[in-house]
Amino acid sequence: MASRVNESPMKSKVIVALDYPQASDAFALAEQLGFANCGFKIGKELFTHAGPDVVRAFVARGAKVFLDLKYHDIPSTVAAACRAAAALGVWMINVHASGGRDMLSAARASLAGCQPRPLLIAVTVLTSLDDAQLREIGVGDSSATQVARLTRLAHDCGLDGVVCSPHEIAAVKGDCGAAFLTVTPGIRPTGAGLDDQHRAATPTVAVRAGSDYLVVGRPLTRAADPRLALAELESEIARAARET
Ligand code: C5P
Repeated sequence: MASRVNESPMKSKVIVALDYPQASDAFALAEQLGFANCGFKIGKELFTHAGPDVVRAFVARGAKVFLDLKYHDIPSTVAAACRAAAALGVWMINVHASGGRDMLSAARASLAGCQPRPLLIAVTVLTSLDDAQLREIGVGDSSATQVARLTRLAHDCGLDGVVCSPHEIAAVKGDCGAAFLTVTPGIRPTGAGLDDQHRAATPTVAVRAGSDYLVVGRPLTRAADPRLALAELESEIARAARET
């Protein structure tokens, strides 16, 4: 039986990055925003501090959890980790596309029996790597070429989409089709500071380009009024979607 994908009935395109060391801070933010009003990304920092219990607690409150652990290991290990993540009831997980075809296929196959199964997303080239650093690790092509290559590989192996910059959405959709998901960090509402993001885009630019999910951290986690900041973000997204 084909597994039914955990395709989001989520009414929001927003995934809030819970980049906190303390589970209590993550809960406090989610209480303010509403557990079911957007997605929540639990990454290596919070997971390493608080473990799978924090994931279970979010899932139990009805949250859509993107478990951002970027698995990259031998195929059997990644497959087992993906199964363990699916058993936590998360909505989305991710792996490094540079783990190669066998690893990607094993990850995808490991989720085949999950009802519903988590969305499986690939990380292509970390945005912290420039072309000089890629050369240093033996990748002679430009980052753009490598991103395109790994995106096609992930699509070929049956993954559901990629994490990419809003500026890469058109190329991803052009290569792999509109249904291949794009999950885009680096979102800064108009007028917000850039923090350490270099190639940021506004929610309007991301939505017009076709972003399926916008990962937003500090503009919400550090807002004086996170609930208001989310409402303003949702209005901007809705306006952009209407005009697209
Ligand atoms: O605070 P900010 O909105 O910049 O947070 C963005 C989130 O997306 C962080 O959790 C960060 O690790 C993640 N991310 C990113 N750029 C990537 C991949 C992930 O900013 N290329």
